Amino acid sequence: MNRRIAVLPGDGVGAEVVAGPVELLEAIADAGRIELTGPWAVGASAFGALGTGLPADTLAACDDCDAMFFGAAGEHPGVSLDDYRPEHSIIGLRQRYDLRVSIRNIVRAGESGESGGRPLIVLRNLLGGAYGAASTRTESDGTDAAGDEVILTPEQIAELAEMACDLVEQGLASSIVSADKANLMATSRLWRSVTGQVAEARGVPLRHTYIDRMAFELAHDDVVSDTVVLTEGIFGDMLSDLAAGRAGSIALCGSASVNPGPPVQGRCVGLFEPVHGSAPRHTGKGKVNPSGAYLALAALLEWFPDTAELGPPVTAALSEALQAGPLTYDLAPAGTEPVGTASFAAAVNARALRSLKELL
Ligand code: IPM
Ligand code: MN
Repeated sequence: MNRRIAVLPGDGVGAEVVAGPVELLEAIADAGRIELTGPWAVGASAFGALGTGLPADTLAACDDCDAMFFGAAGEHPGVSLDDYRPEHSIIGLRQRYDLRVSIRNIVRAGESGESGGRPLIVLRNLLGGAYGAASTRTESDGTDAAGDEVILTPEQIAELAEMACDLVEQGLASSIVSADKANLMATSRLWRSVTGQVAEARGVPLRHTYIDRMAFELAHDDVVSDTVVLTEGIFGDMLSDLAAGRAGSIALCGSASVNPGPPVQGRCVGLFEPVHGSAPRHTGKGKVNPSGAYLALAALLEWFPDTAELGPPVTAALSEALQAGPLTYDLAPAGTEPVGTASFAAAVNARALRSLKELL
């Protein structure tokens, strides 16, 4: 049975950045290798049009797909944040499909070679820990204290550590750096002991470091690629943006939110999206960099064994286009003319289709 992919462009620049990758998905669907549905409405734009951020037919389509290819959830022109908080859609989808693990790939423009071409990977929990359910939060009306309880089980940590080891065993990185706050937090001390045990049992190289030190190393460019940064959800949320910023653009990060186990609702096990969000200032200008959406597409294809071979040609085409230029406004060197989203996407697609044709 073919994998079915549901396309959810979402808010702001979402539709602009998924357009190029969707052309590749269409070519793969035309060759009979996947099924494609959508576009389905989601997020603030759906709220503006339909009064809900997660419309019933979108949820039905998502239940009925293996993976969601998502553009962005965030501010959308014409929809006030007072009326709708767009993160509700993304958190709602994570909870509905138990998408408890986030894997983010960060590439660098213009780098190639043995490890330089490999992404830096940030692996974190998306449910549990700092991303606990509503019951872990004590809201305040401004007079009493507020609280957020951070709870992690050994099983949750072990699952993440095993997945980090899998990435190393698959040759996607050479080693793991586990970042925690074991000098302060009980959950981090448990994290340190469980991740250490798992890596030792698997024979995978793992170094422990403190989260503040990790931030320094990323900002200082000591850890740039070929590594899995394994860390608690809230730490990884910050580190993935930091690493993308250091790589040159928030657009250089693709995100996979996955349920590594059996589906809990319909057949859906993953949401794949660029990290950058809806960029309301740039919406409609056709200027933003679609690289994150290509990285998300590659991650989606690689997640399923039957399409895994189709992912690396997409990443390779993106790396080549980033190396060859011309580049979008966020990366174009001073004095060069930036290209728009569609033209950069066309350069990636021309390369990707050439190699995909041999596999389709
Ligand atoms: C992200 C976002 C989300 C997160 C928010 C919207 C809850 O920042 O996907 O990086 O913290 O995971
Ligand atoms: Mn984030």
